[in-house]
Amino acid sequence: MSIHNEHLKKVEENITNQGRSESFCKLSKEWMVESVRNNYSYNFSWMGRPIIQYPQDMIVTQELVFQVKPDLIIETGIAHGGSLVYSASLLELLGGDGMVLGIDIDIRQHNREAIEAHPMSKRIKMIQGSSISDEVKNQVYEFAKNKKRILVMLDSNHTYEHVLEELKIYSPLVKKGSYLMVFDSVIDDLPNDLFVDRPWGEGNGPQKSVFEFLKTNKRFEIDKKVDNKIMISVAPNGYLKCIEDGK
Ligand SMILES: C[S@@+](CC[C@H](N)C(=O)[O-])C[C@H]1O[C@@H](n2cnc3c(N)ncnc32)[C@H](O)[C@@H]1O
Repeated sequence: MSIHNEHLKKVEENITNQGRSESFCKLSKEWMVESVRNNYSYNFSWMGRPIIQYPQDMIVTQELVFQVKPDLIIETGIAHGGSLVYSASLLELLGGDGMVLGIDIDIRQHNREAIEAHPMSKRIKMIQGSSISDEVKNQVYEFAKNKKRILVMLDSNHTYEHVLEELKIYSPLVKKGSYLMVFDSVIDDLPNDLFVDRPWGEGNGPQKSVFEFLKTNKRFEIDKKVDNKIMISVAPNGYLKCIEDGK
């Protein structure tokens, strides 16, 4: 076995073992609760734009984008644009002509101006509207028409109904080998008092949508290796790997 393969094998073992470690899982869960309580996800930026993500999810997203080499990344939920710029910068590093398509129900003018003025803007297109509206869906499908490897990230309204609808609308665009990422599925695992001012919470979060979606859609499976690798994530059970092309 080559040194590189030996290294990869050791890493695989690490990942499996830490995923099985009750104490590590318990600590990670406690850490998640405290970090959410402290609004940790708002602390970061990417190339100058605030990004509402955890570094662990960002690094694994980088691994998956490099693996898939998408020609289109579709993101629901733009906010300040940090995640759009992050995805665009990964595509820029990959070369090629990959694009990022962002959707948000409310693109604030100052955010739009900053995203449009950003060095990565040539790889970014934005659509304003609800991600589950027919109008937006049609625009996205039109944009995606000739794309071959599409990766989708859902990070907009985190209620059960909304995310389930997004999964139904956008999953057909994802083909074998690519990913459908459902962010903030951690909501379902956290105490409800963390989301008192939000429409989502206990029994009404994205993880429930994922489980419901997977009951009837056999083209996707949860990539537990990702969860076990990063241990700290806003998207537990949310990294869905496409294992079958479908129609
Ligand atoms: C968590 S933020 C997105 C964060 C961003 N992906 C990042 O990582 O920096 C959620 C965004 O979803 C948007 N949103 C809420 N409901 C929506 C809907 N129905 N359709 C599209 N976007 C929506 C909000 O306006 C908000 O900007």
